[in-house]
Amino acid sequence: MAVAIIRILNNSLTMKFIIGDVLIIIFILFITRLPQSFSTTEAIQPSLTRLDSKRSSPSVQESAAKAVLGRFLPTHLHSFHFKIVSKDVCGGQGCFLIENYDGPTENGPEILIKGTTAVEIASGLHWYIKYFCGAHVSWDKTGGVQLASVPKPGSLPLVKDSGVLIQRPVPWNYYQNVVTSSYSYVWWDWERWEKEIDWMALQGINLPLAFSGQEAIWQKVFMGFNISMEDLNDFFGGPAFLAWARMGNLHTWGGPLSKNWLKQQLVLQKKILSRMLELGMTPVLPSFSGNVPAALKTIFPTANITRLGDWNTVDSDPRWCCTYLLNPSDPLFVEIGEAFIKMQIKEYGDVTDIYNW
Ligand SMILES: *[C@@H]1O[C@H](CO)[C@@H](O)[C@H](O)[C@H]1NC(C)=O
Ligand SMILES: *[C@@H]1O[C@H](CO)[C@@H](O)[C@H](O)[C@H]1NC(C)=O
Repeated sequence: MAVAIIRILNNSLTMKFIIGDVLIIIFILFITRLPQSFSTTEAIQPSLTRLDSKRSSPSVQESAAKAVLGRFLPTHLHSFHFKIVSKDVCGGQGCFLIENYDGPTENGPEILIKGTTAVEIASGLHWYIKYFCGAHVSWDKTGGVQLASVPKPGSLPLVKDSGVLIQRPVPWNYYQNVVTSSYSYVWWDWERWEKEIDWMALQGINLPLAFSGQEAIWQKVFMGFNISMEDLNDFFGGPAFLAWARMGNLHTWGGPLSKNWLKQQLVLQKKILSRMLELGMTPVLPSFSGNVPAALKTIFPTANITRLGDWNTVDSDPRWCCTYLLNPSDPLFVEIGEAFIKMQIKEYGDVTDIYNW
């Protein structure tokens, strides 16, 4: 049996878990003042405010939402009007509002969708065609986009009275798995990515993982630490094994990555990020986990670098197994980690505060 007691003491939250006869007391100290009840949104408010300040302008986001509509339901491009509104409309939260368009509607807009970001507008559009028009929007393998039930322009169903207001219940909707990046997405071109990002926007995803092109960033960073391209060819995994190599499960297998491939992935990543930002999303970028090329040990002989054991690699062959991990308490870890974040900012701009590794 487990019992949890939560008590608020000034700035600290005390939780007592009694599991059998084990008593664990966890004190979590918060820099910011806690309200009466523990509020996650409150704790991340400074991050939310900072990220909001990086958001694309309302006109960029309105155009981006309109472009989603143009690709997804081009026959109704003029049936909807989109408008970015301030979070004040929903008490500081993200939200969308669906209203009847007030004004002359001959061949013009019938429905007005307001949202705090382009993602909110797109998810409001999805809400409208789902609940008012009986349409279905899914991935291709689970039914695809089914829009036959959407009435022709000029006959769209009206919403009642003051309309529909849907407030986002949590600030972030995260999407994507770190391994899918290499098993599936690595084969995608821009056209396929564009379709997926449109789908994300329609589903209300506002915190997508953006893992493409990271080897191109690593190449620039490690070269700054005197690691040669030859050393990197003995480090990066091939396209289908990126996730394995990124996590230090193997190296080299399926590689090397060609110069062209690295360049093309970086170009693709910049396109992906631009679109995510136009839609008001917060991309999640990679960061440093301590996984380093073998040559780093030679260049920095005093660094605390541990060689890992074999973990399910090809024939346990050292050509592919047993990678190297830099200890996180080593000053070199901070140097490399910082250089990586800075190189991303140089290439992509200061677009996020949220990282995954
Ligand atoms: C990299 O090599 C250059 C030239 O040999 C040297 O001046 C520099 O100190 C080296 N940097 C590191 C981080 O070892
Ligand atoms: C070096 O790293 C290993 C493994 O991460 C750790 O156990 C050890 O304490 C570190 N040594 C020093 C001197 O920091």
